[in-house]
Amino acid sequence: MAIERTLILIKPDGAARRLTGLTIDRLDSTGLELVGAKMVKVSEALAREHYKALADKPFFPNLIRYIRGEFHGIKDGRVLALVYRGENAIKRVREIAGATNPEQAAPGTIRGSFGRITTAQQFENVLHASSDPADAAREVALWFAAGEVLD
Ligand code: TYD
Repeated sequence: MAIERTLILIKPDGAARRLTGLTIDRLDSTGLELVGAKMVKVSEALAREHYKALADKPFFPNLIRYIRGEFHGIKDGRVLALVYRGENAIKRVREIAGATNPEQAAPGTIRGSFGRITTAQQFENVLHASSDPADAAREVALWFAAGEVLD
């Protein structure tokens, strides 16, 4: 079993709907270790870099606006960024997060319980969680400076 680190972002819908505590509680219940946490102002450049693999998707422009808080009145587009560490951390966090599409996310998962699809077809799914080891390494390095994440 691999010891992994994974990046979690509490997205603006999660923050606006006061789901930050609930999300951290679910993450804590996995037994994984919280090794990084900070509030980050999401610049346009950071948002585009984070989601660069999706740059050619039709939903990309609104995804950038969403993560920057434009649909939820979040001041300066700020999000809580977290890093959890432990055995199979990436898969375990994805399991409690649920599927990307809130309509397909299993009951009891965070996205299945609290996510929604807007009338403009934007997925609002409460949190971001890294999807594989390469993404996790890239994302942790993008959102946190060396030294901000503990061993
Ligand atoms: P993606 O990286 O595919 O999923 P995940 O967040 O589960 O790793 O997509 C990033 C975000 O883009 C997703 O959380 C919500 C948004 N999105 C849409 O709004 N519509 C879509 O059809 C897809 C696939 C994603």
